[in-house]
This record gives sequence, C-alpha cells and structure tokens, in this order.
Amino acid sequence: MISLAIQSKIDNPIDFLPLHGTDYVEFYVGNAKQAAHFYKTAFGFQSLAYAGPETGVKDRASYAIRQNKLTFVFTTPLKNNNEIADHIYKHGDGVKMLALKVDDATDAWEQTTKRGAVSYMEPLKMQDEYGELIMSGIKTYGDTVHLFIERSKYEGVFMPGYRTWNSTYNPSETGLLYVDHCVGNVGWNQMNKWVSFYENVMGFKNILSFDDNDISTEYSALMSKVMSNGNGYVKFPINEPAEGKKKSQVEEYLEFYDGEGCQHVALATLDIVKTVTELQNRGIEFLKVPTTYYDDLLDRVRKIDEDLQPLKDLGILVDRDEEGYLLQIFTKPVEDRPTLFFEIIQRKGAKSFGKGNFKALFEAIEREQESRGNL
Ligand code: FE2
Repeated sequence: MISLAIQSKIDNPIDFLPLHGTDYVEFYVGNAKQAAHFYKTAFGFQSLAYAGPETGVKDRASYAIRQNKLTFVFTTPLKNNNEIADHIYKHGDGVKMLALKVDDATDAWEQTTKRGAVSYMEPLKMQDEYGELIMSGIKTYGDTVHLFIERSKYEGVFMPGYRTWNSTYNPSETGLLYVDHCVGNVGWNQMNKWVSFYENVMGFKNILSFDDNDISTEYSALMSKVMSNGNGYVKFPINEPAEGKKKSQVEEYLEFYDGEGCQHVALATLDIVKTVTELQNRGIEFLKVPTTYYDDLLDRVRKIDEDLQPLKDLGILVDRDEEGYLLQIFTKPVEDRPTLFFEIIQRKGAKSFGKGNFKALFEAIEREQESRGNL
C-alpha cells in the first residue's frame, strides 16, 4: 500500500520562515584538521576559512571548506569539559548544525520560538572589518541544531571569527553542487512529533510519506516522512524504525549515535557518473546492489539519457516519478560508527526520493549491518 501524498505548496501563502536554502553543515569531529583534509581529498572541497586560537577563538578549531554552494565546517574542541567534547564523546563524529540562510535571523528565531521551538542561541550580531553577520539557533531532534544565518551585510570569506584559509593543497572538485536534503533518524514513535515540529514551528509541509509497507525487507522496516519548506529549497525527511524480524537500520543508527541525529546528507550533482567515478577513485566506498537490479531497470524507469553500463559499473540507482527521474547512490558510513553517510543525487525532473530503490537499497544496508553483527 503506497501512502504517497504530494501536497500543494501553494496552500500556505504566508511563509513566516522564508529560507534560502542550506547555508552550511557543521560537523563536530574528533580531529577537524584531518576531517577537513579527508573531505577535501575525497569529495573535492576547497579550503575556505579557519577559526581557532590564532583568530581569537580559544576553545575550538574550525575549518570551513567549500564546493560550489556546498559549505561544510568541521569543529573540534581543544580541551574537554565542554559541549563539543561531550557531543563527540556521546555521538562520535556527526552533524551538529544544519545552518539555514535567512534574510532576518532575529525574526526567524522569534517566529520559531514563539511557536514552541527551544532556543539554542538567541540572535547574536557578530562583526569584523568585513561587516556584520547575525546568527540565531533552535534545537531540533537529538542534539542537532538549526542555525539561522543572516549574511546580507557581511562581505568576509565566511563569518566573523574566521580568517581565510589559504592552502597549497587544492584537489580538483568532483561536481558536488549543493545540499539536496538532510535526513534525520528519530526514535520509536517520535516521527509524528518531529513532523509536527517542522509543520507548526517551522511552517514546513509533509510532501511525501512512506510507511513500513513501502520500506520493508524480509528483515527490517522503517517509516519516513519528507518535510519541505515553502519554496522547496530545504527538505528534511524524518525516519523512524518500524517493527521487523530483525533490527532496523534506523535502530542501529540510534544505538551507535546514542540518540537521534542526522543520518545522511544528500549532495546534488549534474553529472552523477562523473562525480561518482571521481569519488570512487578517491577512496569513497558505496553501497552495492546486486547486478540483477539492472536486469529490469529500463522496464521500470523506461527511457533515460544515460548509458546503462556505467550506471551498472558504479552501482548507481535510478527511479522515476510522475515528473521525471533521478539517479542516486549511497556511501557506506564515512566513519567507524555505523552512523552518518552521504547520498549523491542527480535529479532529472523527479522531485521524489527514490522509493523504487528502497528495497534493493535496504537489503544492501542489511548485508552491511549483518557484517557488523548488528542485524
Ligand atoms: Fe536521501
């Protein structure tokens, strides 16, 4: 039974929280210098900015890297007994901040907190010789935070507190463009609570729903609802485990992240074959579906622009909806805990999330889970 409901985005004429997309994603990590190097090398990011003791920030070091509209920040604590160190002790490396671009960070904070959001930080004006930037933030699932970033009056390289990070090591880009969506894993019976949060506190709409009949394999299951802001620039699917014969992949995440958190960040490309070829050459490992997946692929998705063989060689998945098709592939977890991974996605008209691939994909995930002894 497919419970798929694409709702009109026009039925909410007043968007009290206008968002211009993802400003950056900040990861709390055990070693920011090495993490930044890994993401530069493997994903083709460029050095952008640095903050640390040398720039007057005493308790942490942060490295910002960029590729097209995609900005990642890696932050590590310099000592223990602080929020960042505690976060890493509990969760391992992971996504802390999903920072969103706004015109008015003060209004964004007021609109959301008056609707019930728990404040993470009150609007803060930060200034340096390049202008001013206003930041505020609210808490979302687990220890994850949405920051609101207002940077129209800021001309500096990233934000006050940072200086330009010039590096002699500038690996070529891999064609990654922007954040397509970020997925959160939440606990048992928590999905609808967070759906309500995004609806009521942030003015998002539930644009797609998948139940455990859509997303179940022989062994395990999950439920998912996709939340989108008014203009569709920001999409947050929310996953919850569902009862199956064995442990759901969401449960494995919750166990090893020790709580709710960001499961994957989907990165957009305009040429997935080229991007994934580059990523594989640089050591990124992807989930593989059995080659039988490709036997009836063209019967399912009909005509596509790409040759089948490179898709098969790389393990790229294809799915079609009413509006077009999409190509996607998922990395294995990018750290030792089986938590965070990335999706690479190329949309050719499709606005959905690859439901036709869920079964093949989740079976691939379960093979990995089983190899870790966690199924
Ligand atoms: Fe995804």
